Amino acid sequence: MSGAELMRTMDIEAYLQQQRNQLDQSRQVRDFTVFDYNYIPSRPLMRQECKPIIDALLRFSVSGIPTHLAIIGSRGCGKTLTMQYLRQVISRQTDLEMVYVNCRHYNTSFKIFSQLLTHENVAGASLVGLYERFLLKFTKKTVLVLDEINLMSPKDKDKEILYFLSRSEKPYMIVMLSNTPHVLKQLDAATRSSLQPFPLYFRNYDAQQIYQILLDRAQKGLCIWDEGQLQQIAAMTAKQTNSDARVAIKTLFYRVMDPAASLEKCFEEARRDLMIDVINDLTDVNLMILWAAATCKSDFAKDIYQRYCRFSQDQQARPFSYVYFYANLSYLQSVGLVGLVSTKVDRTYANRVILTCERSVAEQISKLRFE
Ligand SMILES: Nc1ncnc2c1ncn2[C@@H]1O[C@H](COP(=O)(O)OP(=O)(O)OP(=O)(O)O)[C@@H](O)[C@H]1O
Ligand SMILES: [Mg+2]
Repeated sequence: MSGAELMRTMDIEAYLQQQRNQLDQSRQVRDFTVFDYNYIPSRPLMRQECKPIIDALLRFSVSGIPTHLAIIGSRGCGKTLTMQYLRQVISRQTDLEMVYVNCRHYNTSFKIFSQLLTHENVAGASLVGLYERFLLKFTKKTVLVLDEINLMSPKDKDKEILYFLSRSEKPYMIVMLSNTPHVLKQLDAATRSSLQPFPLYFRNYDAQQIYQILLDRAQKGLCIWDEGQLQQIAAMTAKQTNSDARVAIKTLFYRVMDPAASLEKCFEEARRDLMIDVINDLTDVNLMILWAAATCKSDFAKDIYQRYCRFSQDQQARPFSYVYFYANLSYLQSVGLVGLVSTKVDRTYANRVILTCERSVAEQISKLRFE
């Protein structure tokens, strides 16, 4: 073995040893599942907005008349958890059947119906055919939770499943979850008028609520913890993110795995991980616009629009109008990737775009998607 090779082996071994020692710190963890995003606490922090959901479910259970709901709230504000938890308790206390589909994984009406008709052969079936089979399978009062409905494919822009179910004579109630309000505006007129979803807005958690969520995880999953540290993580999350509980939970996880690391470093790492998820979730159009904003020499929206148009054409896609482009920019702002400001230039106002995510991450993800 050459000297250099030996050196490399030694480095690897030394590194492995060092990391193992660090991981030994994780012995302070009693139950790792508390760090899993899908973990359902036995008693989640109750938020006020749960009450109208419970009331609507009970009304439906008693009368069979649905109130369709659209639950809107920023990332990590507990939409999915709330519905998953209610699903567990409601089935114990009422006659309702509650089914859950995440539109991230089943992103067209066809795929959603197919998923709900598990074990049935759906090959060659039409959408109407699937709907008819759905009617035969779901005969009880049924609540259909459609999570992350904003991630449904643009191919199914009218979200036909909503139209079918809201017109049905059968007792079906729909609960849609989304982290942007845009999704409601996108529904076509016919669906909107038959569905008439009642919008419910989940407010962002405050630092105290995030602290409670962290404390609950610590009590369940850790042998020791420092309440001051949990307070600090909660304060950073409330101040520097849209109060995304995931950032807080992940920061705690990184800290537990590496107690020598500063809280700020763990927080930045957690935030970066989640930023990558947000960018990965963008539609192609939004990602192109973000790419244009990230790589344009100027920060004027007009210049970024030109750059987006060229890129879109390169991708054989017809660019959207400036108005639509700007609506998408405000979406990017709502998910925390850019900031929009209006500044005075030569007696008129011009819109500027400030990137609030890492340029290199936006570029890398675009490269992976479009090359
Ligand atoms: N009230 C709560 N009590 C305990 N844990 C919570 C609460 N709210 C959120 N969490 C935890 O925070 C994380 C994020 O919550 P959740 O997945 O419900 O967010 P979301 O609103 O669905 O976000 P997204 O829009 O990204 O889907 C989860 O791990 C969840 O368990
Ligand atoms: Mg969710």
